[in-house]
Amino acid sequence: MYTNKTRKNSLVYRSLLTSPILLLVSLVILPPDICLARITKGPFLLHAYQNRAAVMWETNTQGTGKLLYCTNIKEKPNHIVTEPQPLQYEIRYDPNNIVKKTVFIHKTWLENLQPGQSYFYRIIDSESKSDFYSFRTVPADTNEVTFVVYGDSRTHPETHRKIVEQIAKRNIDFIVHTGDLVTDGDHYDQWGPQFFEPLKGLSESVPVYIAKGNHEGYNGNFEKLLTPPGEKNNFAFDYGPLHYFCADNIAKGLNPKELLEQIASDIRNSKAQWKFISYHIPSLNLGGHWSNWGSPEVFSVFADAGVDFVITGHSHQYERFRPLVPPRLLVADKRGGSFVTYITSGGGGAPLHDVKPTVYHTQAKKIHHFCLFHIKANKLTMDTIDINGDVFDHLEVTKIDGKLNREYLETAVPAEAVRSHRDLHKP
Ligand SMILES: [Fe+2]
Ligand SMILES: [Fe+2]
Repeated sequence: MYTNKTRKNSLVYRSLLTSPILLLVSLVILPPDICLARITKGPFLLHAYQNRAAVMWETNTQGTGKLLYCTNIKEKPNHIVTEPQPLQYEIRYDPNNIVKKTVFIHKTWLENLQPGQSYFYRIIDSESKSDFYSFRTVPADTNEVTFVVYGDSRTHPETHRKIVEQIAKRNIDFIVHTGDLVTDGDHYDQWGPQFFEPLKGLSESVPVYIAKGNHEGYNGNFEKLLTPPGEKNNFAFDYGPLHYFCADNIAKGLNPKELLEQIASDIRNSKAQWKFISYHIPSLNLGGHWSNWGSPEVFSVFADAGVDFVITGHSHQYERFRPLVPPRLLVADKRGGSFVTYITSGGGGAPLHDVKPTVYHTQAKKIHHFCLFHIKANKLTMDTIDINGDVFDHLEVTKIDGKLNREYLETAVPAEAVRSHRDLHKP
């Protein structure tokens, strides 16, 4: 069997390491897939909540893994034993040169954690171990959160890496990725170089919440790698004053109305001061793909539910729309609704799309970037930052009695006007 053979060969290889001459010979004569057992992806912090956190990693040999964790590195750690799931895939160099590989994916929850606590952890398997990493659980009582939203980091890992290096300079609590992590997610060999490797040094310690993109594919690689055990691709989480829903709007057989109602019902039930949503294909988008997912129902559904920000990807550009006048206000319905701000953030590394600023935008740019949010109680600031670390869009809004400040609301535009503009100008 492949696994046993690999394991046996890796032991042979390890013994060769003790002799430099034999090692040199072995490098020449042994096939390339005979190598030391090692951690080949991760560890990667999938989700981190107040009392639990999910971690994944991949190895190139079978066998149980172990995750050691503790709050004090000098104390005896807790440990979790993991049974990995094998994943077989092919690399087609050409029709006559197809290499079959098997890797092993470990995913586990760390349970019964303390809120607001830093934890150290490392991964150990029979033949290798990781460095120590740390992460922090969500505090039980905080009015402050700092986070990044970005997306569409596929295809150019060197650009993605530069974005990650800029993000890593900020002290953030989590990342939301708006999808399109790799060029073709059905090709397993792309996940390492395009997604896991550029995020190294950050994703071990900062959870990355993902709204699945169409480029993730449909053969299950995304779910096997990145959906935590027991969770789904539609999920919500809280961090202090913020409630965030991440949705999968590229699922096969999806009914947009059902997904909108699922999101809205979750948002309505949250008492958080700020409510954000991310999904991949935009509902409001001029340029790039000119997407209008869920339109026009989406505008009244989200305004009625009390959403503040909707941040999507798919179109490789940056655009921030003026807040939308709630549709019910336009028909003099006193129930009103929230003024929702729509942002397209799809500039994480993929080839950029053209976008022209309009009167409906506060900013629209063909640029690689990420959005850095800071919320402290009723005050929200956002800086949108390019690959050099320069801020090219800045927003400050305040909520008083649950409503955004008047100066901001006075800049609002009706969704209907933006939709008409799209229909007139879409190529
Ligand atoms: Fe994309
Ligand atoms: Fe996309």
